[in-house]
Amino acid sequence: MRQHLDACRQKGQRIGLVPTMGALHAGHASLVRRSVAENDVTVVSVFLNPTQFNDKSDLERYPRTLEADCALLEQCGAQVVFAPSVEEVYPEPDMRVFSYPPTDSVMEGAFRPGHFNGVCQVVSKLFMFAEPDRAYFGEKDFQQIAVIRRMVEDLELPVEIVPCPVIREESGLAMSSRNTLLTPEERVLAANIYRILHESTMLHQSVGATHDYVVQAIDAIDGLQVQYYNIVDGKTLADVSSWDEADDIVGCITVFCGHTPIRLIDHIRYK
Ligand code: PAF
Repeated sequence: MRQHLDACRQKGQRIGLVPTMGALHAGHASLVRRSVAENDVTVVSVFLNPTQFNDKSDLERYPRTLEADCALLEQCGAQVVFAPSVEEVYPEPDMRVFSYPPTDSVMEGAFRPGHFNGVCQVVSKLFMFAEPDRAYFGEKDFQQIAVIRRMVEDLELPVEIVPCPVIREESGLAMSSRNTLLTPEERVLAANIYRILHESTMLHQSVGATHDYVVQAIDAIDGLQVQYYNIVDGKTLADVSSWDEADDIVGCITVFCGHTPIRLIDHIRYK
């Protein structure tokens, strides 16, 4: 891949990278299509990164669908699929530590210790392997983009981070590889998450009351349980207590759905 991309760079071609963990869906396809439109060469990495899973059972049940992924990537016009083995990416255990508090220590960082360290380990390696001009990430993982931006600033990497909007199913459920683990009944339940988040934007109440509305309405549905709901400054990810505290305010939620249970994340922009 390096040789191929070096030759592309020598011809003056711009390289777009779409990092993924596979089990691709329409959300990933939208990132790939955007990269194809904006760059000469699009590389998609398909790598289920073990270092970002603090819960090994989550890693074991993560869907693996490489053949179908390649077919979708070809349809979307990606030129290169990079699907390395764990040994290729980590010939030795990665001992590097990335720490960008509070961005990586709140919300997902607090509930999944080590998760963002693993994300930074793999994304920094992918950036070193592919040396992309641009890298595309879905806004569904809102906090992940903030952490990656901090890492890019910190390491002074010459890559433009391109955030892309969440793609939703017709029901409003944010597309996620984990949705395939939901039963049809759980999918119906899960659609309530975005419905309630969206309703909360129309309440026009205080931050505290809006927070409580979302948590109570979701917890009242049998089969859903909120792990956290934080209403934060969209840039620093610090909690806000009033609507005039920041220009960009986002509610970030994680909900357990069903019996397994499957952990789903989503967010809504208030301003
Ligand atoms: O968002 C994901 O799928 C992963 O966290 C990423 C960015 C591909 C790193 O493994």
